[in-house]
Amino acid sequence: MKRKFLMALFFSLVIGVLAACGGSDDDTADDGDATESDDKEVLTVATDNGYVPFEFIDEESGDLVGFDIDLITALADEAGYEIEFETLEFDGIVAGIGSGRFDIGIAGMTITEERKEEIDFTQPYYEAGLILAVKDGTDDIESIDDVDGKTVATRTGSTSQQYLEDETDADIEAFPAIIEAYQNVLAGRADAVLYDLPNVQYYSEKDADGEIVTVGDKLTGEDYGIAFPKGSEHRDEFDEALTTIKDNGTFDDIYEEWFGERPEGN
Ligand code: ARG
Repeated sequence: MKRKFLMALFFSLVIGVLAACGGSDDDTADDGDATESDDKEVLTVATDNGYVPFEFIDEESGDLVGFDIDLITALADEAGYEIEFETLEFDGIVAGIGSGRFDIGIAGMTITEERKEEIDFTQPYYEAGLILAVKDGTDDIESIDDVDGKTVATRTGSTSQQYLEDETDADIEAFPAIIEAYQNVLAGRADAVLYDLPNVQYYSEKDADGEIVTVGDKLTGEDYGIAFPKGSEHRDEFDEALTTIKDNGTFDDIYEEWFGERPEGN
């Protein structure tokens, strides 16, 4: 993973340099003091450390890695900032951006109307959705219609918790770390887990050896956005940088590194 991370970083740097040399209309490289790497402004990025494959600790290297980590690194480079990561629990990230404690939040965070009251988001960068999953061999839960009266585990403060509250009569068990929700399902203490599709899929394939299986259709469409405190001047800068790297292929390269295929329709 470390190697992937370095490669993605290297790619984004190379592309950044090529763009700076070749582009006559390049207006980001020589903005004010951004030309000197040592006097770049440092922005704090709040993220999580347990959300595969977006942000998690690589077991071998101990490094924070993932799609979000590579993405925000490339964006900061494009926008001319240094970044420093701080990891905390997901609901703390949402609250910490709302209160202005951090400059940027990236954590597979779904853009919702409710959050938009407290937080500003960039344009969407990933299209997710929620999916129900059970322990392999479970035969009485085939879709979300079967969860009433069952114990369904998820993560505290997530859109899945909200969905369960609004749309079902399940007994909800919300954990501060999603791994606990999966472990409860594996141990038979919870009947199902509801969470974001890419995380469930990645966990099921890479970490749970297929012992957790998804059931039913993807529920809801959820777009992930990068979060900024309300009124932050950095939102537009990072949003523009996102447009740039979507156009020049850097985004697709990073996406392919983590998801094994290029995104549709960028
Ligand atoms: N997309 C969901 C939400 O925004 C879950 C995100 C969880 N992210 C994380 N880093 N734990 O509520």
